[in-house]
Amino acid sequence: MIYQIYPRSFKDSNADGVGDLRGIVEKLDYLQWLGINAIWISPIYPSPMADFGYDISDYKNIHPLFGTMDDFDMLLSEVHSRGMKMLLDLVPNHSSSQHPWFLESRSSRDSAKRNWYIWRDAKPDGSPPNNWLSVFGGPAWEWDPSTGQYYYHAFLKEQPDLNWRNPEVREAIFDVMRFWLDKGVDGFRVDVMWHMVKDEQLRDNPPNPEYQPYMADYEKLLPVYSTDQPEVHDAIREMRRLLDGYDDRMMIGEVYLPIHKLMTYYGMDNSGAHLPFNFQLISLPWEADKISIAVDEYEAALPDGAWPNWVLGNHDQARIRSRVGAEQARVAAMMLLTLRGTPTIYYGEELGMTDVAIPAEEICDPQGLNMPGKNLSRDPARTPMQWNDTKYAGFSEARPWLRLSPAYKRINVEAQKNDPHSFLSFYRRLIELRQSHASFTCGNFVPVFSNRQVMAYSRKAEGDDEFLIVLNLTHKPCSFELPKPELKAKIILSTSPWLEGNEIGYMIDLNGDEAFVATVSA
Ligand code: GLC
Repeated sequence: MIYQIYPRSFKDSNADGVGDLRGIVEKLDYLQWLGINAIWISPIYPSPMADFGYDISDYKNIHPLFGTMDDFDMLLSEVHSRGMKMLLDLVPNHSSSQHPWFLESRSSRDSAKRNWYIWRDAKPDGSPPNNWLSVFGGPAWEWDPSTGQYYYHAFLKEQPDLNWRNPEVREAIFDVMRFWLDKGVDGFRVDVMWHMVKDEQLRDNPPNPEYQPYMADYEKLLPVYSTDQPEVHDAIREMRRLLDGYDDRMMIGEVYLPIHKLMTYYGMDNSGAHLPFNFQLISLPWEADKISIAVDEYEAALPDGAWPNWVLGNHDQARIRSRVGAEQARVAAMMLLTLRGTPTIYYGEELGMTDVAIPAEEICDPQGLNMPGKNLSRDPARTPMQWNDTKYAGFSEARPWLRLSPAYKRINVEAQKNDPHSFLSFYRRLIELRQSHASFTCGNFVPVFSNRQVMAYSRKAEGDDEFLIVLNLTHKPCSFELPKPELKAKIILSTSPWLEGNEIGYMIDLNGDEAFVATVSA
């Protein structure tokens, strides 16, 4: 189980309004209490913060905003002393435009590092080398007047793409990986893994026939030549080989692709990412039949020996509670923590934190600022963690970098910790159940039933109880029949806690938004 920490927003220890490494240390006991066994921290490296740390200017250091290398070493040892693992964010696709590599690369056409980035001449009419668009709006090529060429940036112009076809670049990133692995880091979440290699000929991307004006500009084209190139798998295999040279390290890949393509990121014979992030619960409509089909398809598509994983949210997406509502967010939590595979929890998800409306003049996220009017800002899902009901929610003693949820007086860790019916208690009980049964952590998954309202499946490992999970994904009541009338089922955890301990008959009625886990026996 992985818990994602967005470090700016988790806990501020030095009253500057921005979260930091010592803040994370302060809250490790909380994470341990919750039952978390691995954390992934979004980038903490020196950065001009054009994209809040995803624009790195020094891969082997710590941004002073977050602390020092000593703080980092302390954090890692505190994590390990609690028996937890720690993953860092690795951003190999692009650096900051302020990184010494890029400064050197842009210094002249004959610079030794010119070929570390993707430089091309203009077309005869002066326009960019091809039609590729930036994910954050506008063209993906930036003109450099002093050397008279364009460079490619899939994201901001402050985030030039590294040239992964250049072996020196690969070696430089491998060196970064070794630096952190030698320190004892347990692995990496690799940023935009499917972007790392681009078409050698830089061919134009074709138009997207499904583009609608409300979508991001980037969606106007299908990124067939700018992403997901076959050669990316060679690069990933090399990264994996490097990791395998150490004990027990792992690699997650951020990959937004359809299932059949996503699967290729496990690599041939599992020589790729251990976990290519599975974002289906984010991208699919919240409908029982669609989700249930997708789960089956995903399970069926997994290569031999590949391990599944599930995600409800992250720092780039609207929070689950804001997408499906407070009641369904509990159903979603039960799904996340009972499906087969590793769940990743986004900080605050366990409290039922919501997206927060950020007034236009306070928007920080470049994606929001560059494409105004499209509601693409990611700030609403990045607001400070809500620890208690004091002035700044216990996040900081100073005004936070991003405004707090107005609901923090009610929705916070302290208030929820001792309330047995709170969101947090529900989450914690689910985690406890999951961690104490092999059926959940490594048992098999059997789809039992689904229709437009309900989704049911069972989990079973040898030597452990069999569990039946029944989820009503709508607000309307529904009923469900046990797969065999002679089965005996007993509810052990439910969104309606007063039903816990009840034996259930062959036909089960569920209220709207109700979901439960039951033990089954013949
Ligand atoms: C990934 C990150 C996102 C960032 C982008 C560019 O998608 O999750 O936050 O903006 O990469 O690095």
